[in-house]
Amino acid sequence: MANREVREFFVTTAKGMEDLLLQELSGLGIGSVTKGRGGVSFRGTIREAYRVCLGSRIANRVLLPLKTFFAPHEDRLYSGIRQIRWASHFTENNTIAVDFASSQSKITHTQYGALKVKDAIVDQFRDETGTRPSVSVVQPDIQVNVYIFKDEATVSLDLSGESLHRRGYRQEGANAPLKENLAAALLMSAGWPLGPDTAFLDPMCGSGTLGLEAALMAGNIAPGLGRDYFGFLKWKGHQEKIWKDLIEEAKAAIIYDPKKLPKIVGYDQDFRAVRAALKNTETHGIPGLLRGRVHFEKKELTLGESIAPKGIFMVNPPYGERLGDEESLRPLYKEIGDLMKQKFKGWEGYIFTGSPVLAKSVGLKASKKMVFFNGPIECRLLKFELY
Ligand SMILES: C[S@@+](CC[C@H](N)C(=O)[O-])C[C@H]1O[C@@H](n2cnc3c(N)ncnc32)[C@H](O)[C@@H]1O
Repeated sequence: MANREVREFFVTTAKGMEDLLLQELSGLGIGSVTKGRGGVSFRGTIREAYRVCLGSRIANRVLLPLKTFFAPHEDRLYSGIRQIRWASHFTENNTIAVDFASSQSKITHTQYGALKVKDAIVDQFRDETGTRPSVSVVQPDIQVNVYIFKDEATVSLDLSGESLHRRGYRQEGANAPLKENLAAALLMSAGWPLGPDTAFLDPMCGSGTLGLEAALMAGNIAPGLGRDYFGFLKWKGHQEKIWKDLIEEAKAAIIYDPKKLPKIVGYDQDFRAVRAALKNTETHGIPGLLRGRVHFEKKELTLGESIAPKGIFMVNPPYGERLGDEESLRPLYKEIGDLMKQKFKGWEGYIFTGSPVLAKSVGLKASKKMVFFNGPIECRLLKFELY
């Protein structure tokens, strides 16, 4: 793709996060953004698409649509895919993978659909060159994305390659970790970061996702800086100079001065969770970058103490869906409410939970409720004013 060519891109995100993504993309200087199904489209240059790949905390994928056509059955899908000149995007020596989804369409079998798409691509190369690209499900050179809605297929190159929620720091999971982009969305909804005097504390941090995302945001660290894989690096349209310049700009924008950084702390009663959080802190793609920006420690909830006169207290307790039973969790929610009330005066409190029943056990009235989906589970971020 030529430097200044303007194209339409589509940025996907999780259900319910489209508005935040829209806001975020505008903040990244992306103009002409429009909300769509499951994401946001924008018109822009390759530089802008790269900027989203590097800088979006909310996005899942950045797609470059190549062609849209009517595909009411597999044969039409096959012929439509064959009409795209794949050799202008990659060679027979590259590896590929196909991501396929359909909704309200006659083609419903996603694996079969993906196979048809792959066949059409490799058959085109085989007919033209006598050889074909091979398939790699792990970090393919080229990730093709096909989405069929109401029998209309949109074929795109996936510039992210794999979902952008993978920041390159998560090596170890603990129980029920939050996705990184969901954690970032929760923090953004709380207005984080609020300056060096406003601290952050997660008293049930698990693998540390909220604390680590809070540190990336407070340090103005572009989330993509920790990744070494994107779906455009082997693409023929890749503009290496533009990408390298953006990386250098992002590195230069990182805040290192401790006086300009807020205190960020995560506690968990389970030493395995704390160990995972510490390991994640050390595994960022830029070695040592996250060290010292977040403090993780083994501590039981009720022993948590305020660490600054004001701050954001945010907690993602178990809510019965995956980790335990609702009834037995009631006392824990009451303890969280008591802790916020007694020890975090002057702070803003947030609880992220999928259980409206447990939310009632907190014993405080939420001043705001925001809906998010944790996978398929409808959850709420509840805000409490603590004064
Ligand atoms: C849903 S997980 C949090 C996941 C975390 N947000 C992440 O992204 O990895 C809940 C965490 O609460 C911790 N926990 C449960 N009861 C606790 C208590 N009384 N005090 C401190 N931590 C507790 C568990 O060990 C678990 O790691």
